[in-house]
Amino acid sequence: MDLNHGQESDEWFQAQSHIYKHIFNFANSMCLKCAVQLGIPDIIHNHKQPITLPELVSSLRFPATKTSFVHRLMRLLVHSGFFATREVRPNQGGGGGEEEKAEEAGYVLTTSSMLLLKDGRTSLSPFVQAMVHPALVTPWQFLGDWFQGYGHTPFETAHGLGLWEYGDRNPEFNNIFNEAMASDSRMMNFLVKDCKEIFGGLGSLVDVGGGTGLIARIILEAFPHIKCTVFDLPHVVANLSQSENLNFVGGDMFESIPSADAILFKCVLHNWNDEDCVKILKRCREAIPTKDDGGKVIIIDMVINGEKDEHDITETKLVFDILMMVLVTGRERNEQEWEKLFLEAGFSHYKITPIFGLRSIIEVYP
Ligand SMILES: C[S@@+](CC[C@H](N)C(=O)[O-])C[C@H]1O[C@@H](n2cnc3c(N)ncnc32)[C@H](O)[C@@H]1O
Repeated sequence: MDLNHGQESDEWFQAQSHIYKHIFNFANSMCLKCAVQLGIPDIIHNHKQPITLPELVSSLRFPATKTSFVHRLMRLLVHSGFFATREVRPNQGGGGGEEEKAEEAGYVLTTSSMLLLKDGRTSLSPFVQAMVHPALVTPWQFLGDWFQGYGHTPFETAHGLGLWEYGDRNPEFNNIFNEAMASDSRMMNFLVKDCKEIFGGLGSLVDVGGGTGLIARIILEAFPHIKCTVFDLPHVVANLSQSENLNFVGGDMFESIPSADAILFKCVLHNWNDEDCVKILKRCREAIPTKDDGGKVIIIDMVINGEKDEHDITETKLVFDILMMVLVTGRERNEQEWEKLFLEAGFSHYKITPIFGLRSIIEVYP
């Protein structure tokens, strides 16, 4: 192949580096999983001051022979922003290898690893562990086969059945998945109390596909007057304990949805293709009062906006879009794509408030 298409050799080597970075992106996921599995964020947090490499190795109860391996794991995780280093004692200067220098510095948490503390009120560690669970990683190996026509989704190509059915038949995976979604919902702790305009006026709310009810509990903490119902598949809500303003109902949202002032969907509609979303939204219209009587649908999901969002945020949203293609039949949508669904389902207008980082709140009115 003639490589002289006007590019300097530098450009070819940059291109090689770009390709290798993407080939091995999974190494970042696996190192993150490993750090969570070993409890490294918790060890650093409990140490209450920068922790040196030997202190970390000893807290991990690893033999000293593992020191250089831990150093290499931490070096990548520092580079990718999960940990940082601070000086522990003044550098006496002079020589020393990289590992010796690492002994003079201590690891500290960054905002990202603070969100990975296992006992944190808001912890994403269950989300990390579930999303790199073999049951969810294996379907990615089947993406090419699926494009060539085998199976409804790559998940189905890999496992022979769909994600929700798989959860029904594998209770252990079902718990891991529901815990992951609950941990994602805990992020709402940071904001729900500021959403008075959205939730404050409601007398009742049904959280459709609400999993184990974490988001309903967070909403109830901020707005205790709302009567909340969590509606999900029977195997998800079985044996969950009710309280005065919170009850659980098992069923299928394609058949009917319990009535309430508002219907909430968090990370549910992105699981479904347009045709299914329109069917679900039509069930919602039947379940809520008119707009004048306070009826609305509240959607918490991503809105792709490549022009306004930072490059990294758009990349994460596009990765989620492919994730929805691999695991289920859904997709992430831009504003026009959301609007089309609302109009087809017979709603008249909507308002998007982009307040949850990756996610927005979309209020949709009859
Ligand atoms: C991605 S999870 C979102 C869970 C929760 N809303 C959250 O964000 O933490 C999607 C939920 O939809 C539920 N689901 C799937 N099919 C359903 C159906 N036909 N009727 C009701 N819920 C369903 C799943 O069981 C799951 O809990």
